[in-house]
Amino acid sequence: MEYRGPKRIRATQKPMPEILHPEDAIVRVTRSCICGSDLHLYNGNVPDTRVGQTFGHEFTGVVEEIGSEVTKLKVGDNVLVPFNIACGKCIFCKQGLFGNCHEAASQASAAGGFFGYSHITGGYDGGQAEYVRVPYANVSPTVIPPGMDIEDAVLLTDVVPTGYQAAEMGGIQTGDTVVVFGAGPVGIMAARCAWLFGAGRVIIIDKEDYRLEFARNYSKCEAYNFQEIGDPVVFIKKQTDWIGADVCIDAVGAEAAGNALQTITGRKTLLQAGSATAVHWAINSVRKGGVVSIVGVYGPTDNLVPIGNVLNKGITIRANQTAVKRHLPRLIEHVQNGVLNPKGLITHRLALEDVADGYRMFSAKLDNCIKTVLIPSTAGM
Ligand SMILES: NC(=O)c1ccc[n+]([C@@H]2O[C@H](COP(=O)([O-])OP(=O)(O)OC[C@H]3O[C@@H](n4cnc5c(N)ncnc54)[C@H](O)[C@@H]3O)[C@@H](O)[C@H]2O)c1
Ligand SMILES: [Zn+2]
Ligand SMILES: [Zn+2]
Repeated sequence: MEYRGPKRIRATQKPMPEILHPEDAIVRVTRSCICGSDLHLYNGNVPDTRVGQTFGHEFTGVVEEIGSEVTKLKVGDNVLVPFNIACGKCIFCKQGLFGNCHEAASQASAAGGFFGYSHITGGYDGGQAEYVRVPYANVSPTVIPPGMDIEDAVLLTDVVPTGYQAAEMGGIQTGDTVVVFGAGPVGIMAARCAWLFGAGRVIIIDKEDYRLEFARNYSKCEAYNFQEIGDPVVFIKKQTDWIGADVCIDAVGAEAAGNALQTITGRKTLLQAGSATAVHWAINSVRKGGVVSIVGVYGPTDNLVPIGNVLNKGITIRANQTAVKRHLPRLIEHVQNGVLNPKGLITHRLALEDVADGYRMFSAKLDNCIKTVLIPSTAGM
């Protein structure tokens, strides 16, 4: 696929990617997903998103070719490829901050390298394609364990680790009340994972009734429509004896709805880098001394965020792009033991050629869409 400008995506023929560096591999894609992060690109909200870019940062594939310095993979391996491109050697990678690699997007000091994202994250072509060039192939790509369903594997490239890290960054203590804003795949997974860290009560907030219903079943949590509960901050205070939630997770990011001023300045006119509505609600409904964990993506420039409330309430804010590789050993085990069921999030399977329909459906929340997987005709499985 390629990007043609805001809300314009098309399936097209592109040249076969080639090995450009001895640590590169070429992977034939078997599955790739459309993510909420792709919607920021699709809507034209991410600076330096170039026409002609191939999106897609959640994919599995078969190794077709390797560069002369690739030792960890061999031709024919079935791999899952984390969305971060990480060198494995810089000071940040060495600390396990694989979402913040200093080499993979070396022109940008804020963002790490990602597949299929804008040029501020390196401008690498992504996996909504038949073939992809995978740089630093010794670092992040991981052989899919025998017996693992490929649909579980593809969700280990982003959604599962991101939901897990959202809960982890919340520092959840036994019995805590955790509120998750956003019932997309990431928020649903964050709510599911909050229980693994010992939450006593998990609440999810969104405006799409079908997603709230899905979250009730999948994540076994309470779910409320913010268009029906009045002010969500007051609602959460009421739910918690006027104390506030112990942990609030923002799994919405820059496309947030629910506040006209934020929507106009953050989404329509781009006077700020995305609408900060969900992060506002999270800061204002967490208790004093509580933790706000942000995985919803915002642009690198300024947002209207209530920093005074952060200060006066003594809130800890933790946020990051997920370090997928760091979580894989534990999460692979959770999938193998049946603790997590990633493929249960998948509602739609489309041919790669129908990628434009996939974006339209996911973006407009049509046909009860939660997660869409694209299958190239060359997948062979
Ligand atoms: N940090 C990371 O590493 C990482 C990884 C993957 C995704 N993300 C980000 O996580 C976010 C969610 O991803 P997704 O795939 O679940 O996206 P999604 O678009 O499917 O889900 C977002 C949901 O938020 C809801 N929403 C809108 N405004 C809201 C508000 N004010 N309060 C509560 N809910 C609101 C929408 O109705 C939608 O259901 C995106 O911003 C994405 O970029 C971050
Ligand atoms: Zn993603
Ligand atoms: Zn690095």
